[in-house]
Amino acid sequence: MQFKKEFLEKLQSAKKIVFFTGAGISAESGISTFRGKDGIWNKMKPEELANFDAFMRNPDLVWEWYQHRRDIIHKARPNAGHYAIAEFEKYLDVTVVTQNIDNLHRRAGSTKIFELHGNIERNYCIDCRTSYNAPQFELANKAPKCEKCGGLVRPDVVWFGEMLPQDEFREGEKAAEWSDICFVVGTSAVVYPAAYIPISAKQAGSYIVEINVEPTDMTRYADYSILGTAGEILPNIVDEMSRLKM
Ligand code: OAD
Ligand code: ZN
Repeated sequence: MQFKKEFLEKLQSAKKIVFFTGAGISAESGISTFRGKDGIWNKMKPEELANFDAFMRNPDLVWEWYQHRRDIIHKARPNAGHYAIAEFEKYLDVTVVTQNIDNLHRRAGSTKIFELHGNIERNYCIDCRTSYNAPQFELANKAPKCEKCGGLVRPDVVWFGEMLPQDEFREGEKAAEWSDICFVVGTSAVVYPAAYIPISAKQAGSYIVEINVEPTDMTRYADYSILGTAGEILPNIVDEMSRLKM
């Protein structure tokens, strides 16, 4: 694979890089994206599933949907894209800022990860905030009750209209601003505030490299836009990296 010379020079001198990732990086693991032709939001209505009012109206339905997604995610494996991102840690300082809740970056071995939209492996009580990890509730097909206060337990994911975890966002933004290269991988970059991360990187002078199967809202900010799948492109970039750092 041939990459732009300017990009290879950036790669050679880079000390810190950030990967801002979205559902597209997990597509090759068999997990559906949200938008686009097979997107989840074409088939399911986010307003009926991914917000707090929907949960209060019908907790069991929302819980069951997340159990279904958990099942898919547990059976899925990280793909070559996730593993390539983890491998970059051999060569330089790497931060992953992800919108994904699927835990696949961690399972692939990445060590510094900020999760902007939560993590499906965790749950918490809506009343007393006690947190519960998923295995306890693996078989529950109805929204479980908190052992301490009897409140409803919900997945620890960010729903529409909710705040992002502020520490994760702030730390992610800081890493993006300090980065020499910010890779924007497999995201439509239309959901805010998450999509401010690469914009902050750009404003702070980072070199923006987009990897996606199609152009997106981010393409006009990108210094280099590479069309292709994450699982195909990222291992090729790691190969370049290993040659450059030899
Ligand atoms: P989207 O579904 O909006 O976008 C997925 C992107 O991945 C699209 O731009 C695709 O072109 C691209 N894509 C698909 N397959 C790919 C592949 N193999 N390699 C590279 N790119 C690929 O997903 P997100 O941008 O992650 O929020 O969506 C952002 C947020 O919207 C999600 O975190 C979720 C959703 O509502 C919450 O749950 C809070
Ligand atoms: Zn409780």
